[in-house]
Amino acid sequence: MSGKLWGGRFQNSAEQWVDEFGASIGFDQQLVTEDLEGSIAHVTMLGACGILSQDEVNTIKDGLHQLQQKATEGSLEFSIANEDIHLNLEKMLIDLIGPVGGKLHTGRSRNDQVATDMHLFLKKRVQEVISLIEAFQKAIVTQAEDNIDTLAPGYTHLQRAQPISFAHHLMTYFWMLERDKQRFQDSLKRTDISPLGAGALAGTTFPIDREMSAELLGFSAVYQNSMDAVSDRDFIVEFLSNGSLLMAHLSRFAEEIILWSSEEFKFIELDDVFSTGSSIMPQKKNPDMAELIRGKAGRVYGNLMGLLTVLKGIPLAYNKDMQEDKEGMFDTLHTIVGSLKIFEGMVRTMTVAKETLHKAVHQDFSNATELADYLATKGMPFREAHEVTGKLVFLCIQRGIYLLDLSIEDLQEASSLIEVDVYDVLAPEAAVQRRHSLGGTGFEQVKIQIAKAKECL
Ligand code: ARG
Repeated sequence: MSGKLWGGRFQNSAEQWVDEFGASIGFDQQLVTEDLEGSIAHVTMLGACGILSQDEVNTIKDGLHQLQQKATEGSLEFSIANEDIHLNLEKMLIDLIGPVGGKLHTGRSRNDQVATDMHLFLKKRVQEVISLIEAFQKAIVTQAEDNIDTLAPGYTHLQRAQPISFAHHLMTYFWMLERDKQRFQDSLKRTDISPLGAGALAGTTFPIDREMSAELLGFSAVYQNSMDAVSDRDFIVEFLSNGSLLMAHLSRFAEEIILWSSEEFKFIELDDVFSTGSSIMPQKKNPDMAELIRGKAGRVYGNLMGLLTVLKGIPLAYNKDMQEDKEGMFDTLHTIVGSLKIFEGMVRTMTVAKETLHKAVHQDFSNATELADYLATKGMPFREAHEVTGKLVFLCIQRGIYLLDLSIEDLQEASSLIEVDVYDVLAPEAAVQRRHSLGGTGFEQVKIQIAKAKECL
């Protein structure tokens, strides 16, 4: 006798250290709400289909409601001997209402049960993630609206390239997040499907109504193949994959936040709440939260790789390997929720050093393309205009000045096509202003972009 709910065919009792290795209760207790919801729907359906009597159903439901109450109070005591959330709750139910509790598992297996729990859990949490992404997008839009006229150096290769509106830079992250949001939304289609009633793998001999239990649980569809129902973990992989791409975006933004808050850039200042000091250097204000988010991308990618690897060689249908789908999922959820909340606050409260950005853009060569375009507009082949401008940049570097500091004589010596109107063209404000191609950094385009962005919220 093993003392287990499944112990009938066993002779020797279990050993605790082996139980500990096999148990998932340490982490799958996070599915307690979903597991109870699933059981209530299942037993309701068993009653409606005449598989259990209405009396039995009422007694079982009453017990399940009591367990729900205890779960809310946090007074359920889980045990490793009962392996996982499903067996723990079933044991508690039987202890509470007697042997009739053993009828709950009619026409069901832990295999369809755990899959149902995971579908219910992710369906709910993905919606929370989507709301958090939106909140973060709003913070970005608010900062962007505040910085349409803030000139900033735009970079390629981390070298100053062309002047831009700082709002344009910020809004880039809005659109990345918009795609993240859409991906999470889209994944709901494949998460919102009920595996309940698939049984262990082959369906059941009881006259159950899978559509009914699915509807009771708010699922939009049911799996068409019982083996697929219990073996599918694609929806979790999708979640981990969407989470990974989200973290890639947050990590890029975090990197910029870190650079911008450095003494070398000083483009922004983070609120004290999102910074930490040094235990030895009194002057330090470190962007720890941004660094942590950049670092946490690693564990989220790891969770994705972990699950893909778990799944790659397992035969149909359920295998215990699949229990390994949970910790990575909980960890990813926890990580992206935390990262999104922190990032929203960090961006909402940061101070943009408009003056520093303004100065930066007036003390660089990011207006060189303007000069080349100017010459091209006057009829010089662009390749030649590029060469002439490059030579003028070199002249400036030798003299320790910028293009706008060159005299008209110097400029005209480089090309007779240049006239005094060139100074207006070289002003960074003008450079930004004139980039009004669709989606460009021109102030008017940025305003249009922000208006479009707001329609997504
Ligand atoms: N704890 C298990 C898991 O997470 C539940 C399903 C167990 N099924 C079984 N046949 N052993 O995968």
